[in-house]
Amino acid sequence: MTLGHNGPQVSKLGFGAMRMSPVWGGPAREEKESIATIQAALDNGINFINTGDFYGAGHNEMLVGKAIKGRRNDAFISVKFGAIFHGGQMLGLDLRPIAIKNFINYSLMRLGVDTIDLYQPCRLDNSVPVEDVIGTVADLIKEGKVRYLGVSEITAAQLRQANAVYPVSALEIGYSLADRQIESELLPTAKELGIGVVAFANTAEGLLTGNMTAPLPANGYHHHFSRFQGDNLVKNLEKVEVLKDMAADKGFTPSQLAIAWVNAQGEHIMPLVSINQRSRLQENMAAMDITFTADELNTLNTTFAPGAILGSTYLQR
Ligand SMILES: NC(=O)c1ccc[n+]([C@@H]2O[C@H](COP(=O)([O-])OP(=O)(O)OC[C@H]3O[C@@H](n4cnc5c(N)ncnc54)[C@H](OP(=O)(O)O)[C@@H]3O)[C@@H](O)[C@H]2O)c1
Repeated sequence: MTLGHNGPQVSKLGFGAMRMSPVWGGPAREEKESIATIQAALDNGINFINTGDFYGAGHNEMLVGKAIKGRRNDAFISVKFGAIFHGGQMLGLDLRPIAIKNFINYSLMRLGVDTIDLYQPCRLDNSVPVEDVIGTVADLIKEGKVRYLGVSEITAAQLRQANAVYPVSALEIGYSLADRQIESELLPTAKELGIGVVAFANTAEGLLTGNMTAPLPANGYHHHFSRFQGDNLVKNLEKVEVLKDMAADKGFTPSQLAIAWVNAQGEHIMPLVSINQRSRLQENMAAMDITFTADELNTLNTTFAPGAILGSTYLQR
């Protein structure tokens, strides 16, 4: 697909590397398998590799760097910056121009590259004017350290503001059957402005995998969010049964259908999927070939109408 107006050619399936590293604490995944998985994705023509400088305090970028060593041109590297972590907690954002100019040098070093293909603030807040954040990335593009500008998790108004400062090639945003609130304003704005959409959390943090059962352990990560608690979770999983039945009828997994639904939303929309081990690669690639009949789409769109999934997660904005 083309990423944005006259943008670069990238694979329609994006590779999310985040979960290979300890973002929220805990151990990293086995390094050999992680590197082999990234390389297998590249071998299969998946060139869009998504990372962030705060994914495991640089661990994720170093992994990607090792995986692309000697084959830089096979990969299109997307890096997020700006999140400040301490002890497995996100403390806030640092989007000051002076900080961004510092961050990029560390990212280039960890990745072992001269240029980052897509560079993006992970969020925006009111601490630094949008013009200054975007203007700094535009300066890095002029310097040759960055090729394209991206943004992540922002509002339609911020997207217009950013795009007015410098053309935005890609918007990274959570999107799935369970999280459709961006359809009312943000998606149409991205389309109008010719901005590619890199859609993550297609499985809605595991809800749509069909593997979740209620109740979830009270000490787990999911339990922080009302979507995964009590009656909400019970009712939400009833809806997932519809996806499970359709998946069984079509001979696929619910996760594959969840990815395929995102893929079906438009030529300019890329499903960005965490592919943590080689055994998941073929399954997620096969999801890109799934098509739906009008009846099937209608069933999914009705069952998972915007607002149908109860309770919130960090993806509600
Ligand atoms: N901009 C942002 O704010 C932001 C936020 C979050 C993520 N991201 C990016 O987007 C990428 C994807 O996001 P995500 O990890 O939240 O969502 P996701 O792709 O839906 O993955 C969530 C989990 O689903 C499981 N999974 C993936 N494919 C599967 C399959 N075919 N069958 C069953 N389970 C499957 C994986 O778990 P297991 O393999 O462990 O079973 C994975 O860890 C990340 O890697 C990251 O690069 C960006």
